[in-house]
Amino acid sequence: MEPPHVHITTYGCQMNQLDAELVAEVLRASGARLAADAEEADVLLFLTCSVRGHAEDRVFSNIGALKTRKQREPGLVVGLLGCMAQQYGPALRRRAPLVDLVCAPGRLAELPDLIARARSGKTAMAFDPPRKEGGPEVFAASDLSAVAQRAKADAALDQAEVRRPLCGRSPGQAYVVAVRGCDNFCSYCVVPHVRGPERSRAPSAILEEVRRLVGQGARQITLLGQAVNQYAAVEGGRRWDLADLLQAAADVPDLARLAFITNHPRALDERLAAVFRNVSKVCSYLHMPAQSGSDAVLARMNRGYTAAEYLDRVAMARQARPDVGVASDFIVGFPGETAADFEATMDLVRRARFSAAFVFKYSPRPGTAAAKHYPDDVPDEEKRRRHAALLALVEEISGEENAKFVGCTVRIFVEEVSPKASANSKSEIRNPKSLQLRGRTPCNRIVVFDGPPRLVGTEVDVEVKASSPLTLFASLVSEA
Ligand code: 5AD
Ligand code: SF4
Repeated sequence: MEPPHVHITTYGCQMNQLDAELVAEVLRASGARLAADAEEADVLLFLTCSVRGHAEDRVFSNIGALKTRKQREPGLVVGLLGCMAQQYGPALRRRAPLVDLVCAPGRLAELPDLIARARSGKTAMAFDPPRKEGGPEVFAASDLSAVAQRAKADAALDQAEVRRPLCGRSPGQAYVVAVRGCDNFCSYCVVPHVRGPERSRAPSAILEEVRRLVGQGARQITLLGQAVNQYAAVEGGRRWDLADLLQAAADVPDLARLAFITNHPRALDERLAAVFRNVSKVCSYLHMPAQSGSDAVLARMNRGYTAAEYLDRVAMARQARPDVGVASDFIVGFPGETAADFEATMDLVRRARFSAAFVFKYSPRPGTAAAKHYPDDVPDEEKRRRHAALLALVEEISGEENAKFVGCTVRIFVEEVSPKASANSKSEIRNPKSLQLRGRTPCNRIVVFDGPPRLVGTEVDVEVKASSPLTLFASLVSEA
């Protein structure tokens, strides 16, 4: 049989974007060809997200749309990978009959074999061991073989990670996994159920990868983990936390910027604050989801902090690095959220003055504690109203914060040629003959400016001329 010609469609978070690179590497190493265009491929893989119902609906509808193509090309293999695979298990094929291959996040290294099975008409499914609510010890103590199997899967993915060429959407930038899985069991969240127990990679493996990616031209590295600041490893006879890891990674010559996402407020400590204070390569960006400003809701969410404690952590980070951009996520309409609870969230946003925040309507996820114990009792219309009100407040504040940059010169990392140049509302400062580039400040604010595409992947100084809640509009001062 000819080697497969594979196309990958990726949904969801940065972890999935990195998984897509690992899948591509695993497949390349097995002799498969990668197709840039889905029409050319004979294997279509969907790397999916389960975090909200809406994300799942999109995948089901995109796979459903393949019906006529599948009738025309019976040999076409449709594979559903990642979080939805683990969330639905074998029942997935009843829900999406066009799917021939199903593969959970911890088993992605087995894809070449699964594709071969699917192409010869055999069942091709691989799942991770299920996790029960109640914490990792249930999983670890009761099923050692499952733990061993997971470590094996991680080792294979680590190898792919080490081999993968620097690629991705934006040259000069790369993601590196620091922590896989999650043990926090926030009551609304599917991640601990589908991505397994929290596992921190060895510092030596991470640092070697950072060095290699920088050697290939990466200038900005972002360490990833669902709660990356819970990083904990033992190597060389000592304990490593995220502060140690950032410190060591910052010593890699030619690396310009180091970022880390996402942070759990409970685990932000003085050691990490000291990194903000002392390590200039570490970006002044802290993505630290608050989720709610109501203590009662935070308790039902199992977040492990109060609104006041959250604000203390923000203050700690700002004291260490006054220009730090703090970004957050919020869920509105969590079960039992009253008008007063929502007001408390609005109040927290007014106090924290986020540089950006993502706002989501609560979506009950099967298998989570919230879905089991709390009825989804906030009407959708009210969720929509709170969503709009919170987003408007977030934008009002980020607009005010962004306006403070006007007239300043900032050093930005240029990520890409702006995909939406024509939509730039500040066209009066644009030169119609040159391209519009898009970059980010160290505090992760988006900056657009006119310049030559060769600047992509480098740092430059720009002067900010105008601002909006989401964007700074600038002009080039000098190339760094
Ligand atoms: N409903 C709505 N939003 C959710 N998130 C996670 N689970 C849910 C859910 N069940 C949001 C949280 C998290 C972000 C990645 O997605 O805000 O930080
Ligand atoms: Fe989900 Fe909470 Fe883990 Fe984040 S920390 S992935 S919200 S369980």
